[in-house]
Amino acid sequence: MAVQRTVSAQSLSPTEEQANWSLRPQLLDEYIGQSRLIERLRIALQAAQIRKEPMEHLLLFGPPGLGKTTLAHVIAHELGTRLHTTSGPALTKPGDLVSTLTRIEPRDVLFIDEIHRMPAAVEEYIYPAMEDFKVDVMVDSGMHARSFTMNLKPFTLIGATTRAGLVSGPLRSRFGISSQLDFYSDADLHVIAKRSARLLTLNLDNDNVLHGLAHRSRGTPRIINRLLRRVRDYALVHNNGVVDTAVVDAALKLESIDDLGLDNLDRMYLKIIATVYDGGPVGLEAVAATLNEDAGTLEDVVEPYLLKMGLLARTRRGRQLTAQAQEHLQLRSTRLGTSKPALFDQDQSENDEV
Ligand SMILES: Nc1ncnc2c1ncn2[C@@H]1O[C@H](COP(=O)(O)OP(=O)(O)O)[C@@H](O)[C@H]1O
Ligand SMILES: [Mg+2]
Repeated sequence: MAVQRTVSAQSLSPTEEQANWSLRPQLLDEYIGQSRLIERLRIALQAAQIRKEPMEHLLLFGPPGLGKTTLAHVIAHELGTRLHTTSGPALTKPGDLVSTLTRIEPRDVLFIDEIHRMPAAVEEYIYPAMEDFKVDVMVDSGMHARSFTMNLKPFTLIGATTRAGLVSGPLRSRFGISSQLDFYSDADLHVIAKRSARLLTLNLDNDNVLHGLAHRSRGTPRIINRLLRRVRDYALVHNNGVVDTAVVDAALKLESIDDLGLDNLDRMYLKIIATVYDGGPVGLEAVAATLNEDAGTLEDVVEPYLLKMGLLARTRRGRQLTAQAQEHLQLRSTRLGTSKPALFDQDQSENDEV
């Protein structure tokens, strides 16, 4: 992977995950946005409490940074039970799953991140666990191998994935509730930014100073929290810690984030289609090869927001730029003093080494 991006929706490091912990909402009431899903969950949670049963299994899908992991923690907290966290790639063999399942207490929540990457051999073991709270345990191996069925405590499985399309039909059908997380509105992001600013004890010049930040955070809470830390640093170094509009603008400029919230990788992706492939349609693999990026990363991390913004269209023959994207690139390149879209920005920041 060549590029580390400030606006990457993926978590950049364990340190960042830790920094995010303090910003994570704990309760359903503190969870901002996604109102339809939250309403459904509120009802499911209450019904489960009344029946004294675990909540139904829940599948969450959507681009990284929108609050899937956060929501799993919130649900366990609301249920007053423990959250056991694992991930698809960590469950390499059925035994890994079985040992996780045996640690579960009644009504606990098991969170499997990147559930689409769970091996098929493990997936088979999870079906009876989800349906009947039972799991087959193999003892010995080879000729002496035998299996017995073990009863589990009733629990809730929460699966998260950035690729709903890669979750098998049989697995998907075993989730009682399945929901996509949407990109957040500017208004919701503004609320999140103000809450985070309070928790990070930022000195805001006025109540609306984070509007611009909300607008340029690609609809993603993880990104707004990251940009907020960049803004905090910038304010500390250049403005005695006071965050005003000029500080926000300057900090974002330093990170090469434009007025739509696009960063260098986004713009390069668009520009490559514009210049090398004449605006498309072009296959994702070709763009990925030209960019020297992983096609999966582009599909998960770069494309969803460009599609949402109407800058990109996915057609049967491949990816195609919209008129709006052409206009956006043109506008930027005129500002940079060239008549044709430049392939690479002059203001490319240091950590975007491609
Ligand atoms: N609805 C929300 N309200 C407030 N903050 C949120 C919300 N969703 C996510 N966040 C913030 O964004 C960060 C990333 O969310 P996370 O749950 O890790 O995303 P995902 O698991 O979907 O990649 C969290 O640390 C949290 O601070
Ligand atoms: Mg996550």
